[in-house]
Amino acid sequence: MRHLISAADLTRDDAVLILDTAEEMARVADRPIKKLPTLRGRTVVNLFFEDSTRTRISFEAAEKRLSADVINFTAKGSSVSKGESLKDTAQTLEAMGVDAVVIRHGASGAPFRLATSGWIDAAVINAGDGTHQHPTQALLDAFTLRRRLVGPDAGLGQDLAGRRVTIVGDILHSRVARSNVDLLHTLGAHVTLVAPPTLVPVGVENWPCEVSYSLDKVLDRSDAVMMLRVQRERMNAAYFPTEREYARRYGLDGERMAKMPADAIVMHPGPMVRGMEITAEVADSPRCTVVEQVTNGVSVRMAVLYLLLGGNEPAVAQNRPAPA
Ligand code: CP
Repeated sequence: MRHLISAADLTRDDAVLILDTAEEMARVADRPIKKLPTLRGRTVVNLFFEDSTRTRISFEAAEKRLSADVINFTAKGSSVSKGESLKDTAQTLEAMGVDAVVIRHGASGAPFRLATSGWIDAAVINAGDGTHQHPTQALLDAFTLRRRLVGPDAGLGQDLAGRRVTIVGDILHSRVARSNVDLLHTLGAHVTLVAPPTLVPVGVENWPCEVSYSLDKVLDRSDAVMMLRVQRERMNAAYFPTEREYARRYGLDGERMAKMPADAIVMHPGPMVRGMEITAEVADSPRCTVVEQVTNGVSVRMAVLYLLLGGNEPAVAQNRPAPA
C-alpha cells in the first residue's frame, strides 16, 4: 500500500493488518512515554482545505507519537486565498522535503488526483474528500466496533463477520457512510442505511448494503447504530425536512435506544448536533462510543502512517515482529 485514498481499496487482510497494528499502537498510548522512534527523520504535512477538529488533531498526535516532523497547513491564511492551485501548493510543500501528505479537501477526488498525477512523490492519505471517502474514519469505526463487539485482544486477526451495523441520517452527503459501507462489507458486517428518501443517494441499490426509511423497524436487529451529522452546509434547504420532523423520525433518543439489544452500541463520527440527530441523554450514555472513537482514531492513524512510511523498519512495538 503506497497511498490510502479509499476504504474500497482495502482488502480484508489489509484492513485486519491495520486494525491489529492499531491495537499495538494503542498499547503505546498506555505507556508513561507515549512515543515511538519509527518515523524519526520523516516529514508529514497535514494539508487541510476544509475545517476539522478530530481528524486534523488526531493525525498530528499520531505523527508526533511516531516522532515524525510535522507541518500543519490550513488553506485559510495561505496563498490558496490568492488563487494558488492544489498542484502548486503540493509542489511547494514537497520542495521543502515531505514524505507524506495528509489531505482534507472539499472536492471529491482531490486526494486521488494528488496521488496519481505525478505532481509529487510523497505518500498521500485521504483525511476526507467532499462527499466521497474518509477511510481513516471508517478504520477507526471498525476498530471501535471490533473492540466493543468482538473484544480487544480476542479480536486480533478477526473481522466483523455477521455483525449488524445501522448507519442513520444524511447518507447523501456523507463520506463517512460511503467509507463505512465499503469497509464494513469487506470485513463481513451487514450494513443497513436509514435515511429520509431525500437524503439517500442515487445508485444506492448498487452499494453492498440494505436501505430502510424506518429507524424504528431496524433498531432491535442492530449491534451498532451509527448516527450521522446532517450536513446543512452541503445541502439545499428545499430537500431538507424541518429540524423537528427530522428528530421525530430519524433522531436517536432514550426511548429509541431502549429498543436496541442490551449490548448494542451507539456511534457518531462527530461533530454531533445534539437535539437533532442525537439527544444529550444518548450522546452522554455509556453506550455511546463517540469519545472512544476519537481516542481510537490516534492509534488507527499511527498504524496507517507506520504501514505506509515505516513498514520496513523494525518492530512497531515491543514483542511484535514488523508487519510483512
Ligand atoms: N469525524 C470527523 O471527520 O471530524 P472532523 O471534521 O472534526 O475532523
